[in-house]
Amino acid sequence: MARIPESFIKDVVDRSDIEELIGRYVELKRSSGNYVGLCPFHSEKTPSFTVFPDTRSFYCFGCGVGGDVITFVSKMENLSYVDAVKMLAERAGMSMPAEDPAAAAASKQRETILKANREAARYYHACLKDEKLGLAAREYIAKRRLSAATVTHFGLGFAPDGWDNLVKHLKYKGFSEADIITSGLARRSKTGGAIDFFRNRLIFPIIDLRGNVIAFGGRVLDNSLPKYLNSSDTPVFSKKNNLFALNFAKNKGNDRLILAEGYMDVISMHQAGFTEAVATLGTAITPEQARIMSRYAKKIVVAYDTDRAGQEAVKKANRLFGELSVDVKILAVSEGKDPDEFIRENGAEKFEMLLEGAKSRLDYELGILRKTVDLKTPEGKINYLREAVKSVAKEHSAVTREVYAAVLAGETGVSAEQIKKDIDKVVGINGKKEALNEIKEAEKKLAVPDVYGDRSLEMRTVKAEEGIIAALLKNNDYLHTVDGVGPDLFITEKNRRVFEAVAERIKNGEETEIYSFAGDLSPEDISHLAAIDARSRLTQKFTKRETADYVAVLKEASEVKSAGPLNELSDDEFRKLFKKK
Ligand code: CTP
Ligand code: MN
Repeated sequence: MARIPESFIKDVVDRSDIEELIGRYVELKRSSGNYVGLCPFHSEKTPSFTVFPDTRSFYCFGCGVGGDVITFVSKMENLSYVDAVKMLAERAGMSMPAEDPAAAAASKQRETILKANREAARYYHACLKDEKLGLAAREYIAKRRLSAATVTHFGLGFAPDGWDNLVKHLKYKGFSEADIITSGLARRSKTGGAIDFFRNRLIFPIIDLRGNVIAFGGRVLDNSLPKYLNSSDTPVFSKKNNLFALNFAKNKGNDRLILAEGYMDVISMHQAGFTEAVATLGTAITPEQARIMSRYAKKIVVAYDTDRAGQEAVKKANRLFGELSVDVKILAVSEGKDPDEFIRENGAEKFEMLLEGAKSRLDYELGILRKTVDLKTPEGKINYLREAVKSVAKEHSAVTREVYAAVLAGETGVSAEQIKKDIDKVVGINGKKEALNEIKEAEKKLAVPDVYGDRSLEMRTVKAEEGIIAALLKNNDYLHTVDGVGPDLFITEKNRRVFEAVAERIKNGEETEIYSFAGDLSPEDISHLAAIDARSRLTQKFTKRETADYVAVLKEASEVKSAGPLNELSDDEFRKLFKKK
């Protein structure tokens, strides 16, 4: 982590009101001195996300995410720790202190890459406009019915044929070969030279929310393969965190976003007035992309191809948006057509009608099912009901399930009551599965290492580790109570690191508020520290006596460890393990 001076981080935290800041993203209610709300990092219906004004930290008892105001911003806005500090500093009207050399170099390189990308976008655009060079690409664009205004709006371009047109141009503009390769605009050839990544392709610049050109997509002008090429991830581009055209779509502000599969669909839709359309970048939608979209709109229309791959993609989108409690509708473009072709053939008004008629997940799934069965035969009805019941059972609302039980009854002639019973059965099974998964997830989070070969002993030890850390955080003067506890007694690496940092600060007479560990611990460890602090509020009394008990547990456990696995213990050693101190 970059070394921003601790005093600066302290100032930033001091001047950022954690309730106010988190309150911009989460609706918070007061609850016994703290604030609670629905967690923005996982899907939940009852609030377990808690903000603690006293320690200026947050923690979600549901998903285990926690930290200080800096961690929160970095998670929420997908920023690095340093960038989160920068953002908070900016909000507070503070200017950043001089960075350390490594961070400064990295940020300089990002700037260089962004400049190279911008220059490349200009170059590609100029090539498209060039009378001779861009002729074939312009003909292709005309065939796709894109207007001159659209071409300019999206900054479309053309990468001419040849091995190193862009490389030469960028070198001429002063960029080093190393930077050109890091930017992903060229790659190393076998003979050691640099060759253009995009050649003889129509170019789609990908622009982030700050207006930076961060990457490109490129399409062939004919039927050759691969049809599309996309920039790989670079220091300025992460595929999973960005969406094509969100820079335009976010300004529409009508609470609806349309998710399409590709560049051409999005461009076509924007040209027809549907400027709320975005697309992923050559991959299926990621949880990050779904979360970003849900921040700009509560209604999402998924406008994918209706082929097999499209149906799978719809399932994934349904699941991800469902978890975020966003209203998802699925657009059914008639057989084999995508939005681009539909608009070209039928116009914008018909497309708007299509949008308005977009189906809920359930209607969409039932529609597909119906096509695969013959409802006139008993077998067809049975097959249909078996799958339809599963589909309905995924609905959270009992009313919706009841309504659809009646719909299915009407379709098959089976009584609604019987169908409802089957649905409830599946709901019950799903509920149990979910509960089981939650327990598994919670256990994973504890990350208890297998040290003694006895899980309950290991859990107890980890609990004691956390207990000691939490007690020290709250009462710095307990350091002498835990005298004799060294890092070697800790069985989890994370707790050991955190303990060392806490003990060290107390020894030096430094404060132990969560944010103050920025210089000593990684953001993950700080998040872990916030989690320990939050959990301890529910379980600990913070008395000296209790703390001494935790110390005893650690010491006993370490005796077991040095004695080897449990099954090799002598009776005496075994008894000692349970002896009360
Ligand atoms: N895609 C990709 N690589 C491929 C094919 C597709 O990355 N080899 C991605 C692109 O982002 C593309 C999207 O998947 O925009 C959808 O692909 P497809 O449906 O094949 O293309 P269309 O968007 O319909 O493009 P076009 O109309 O130009 O054929
Ligand atoms: Mn298409």
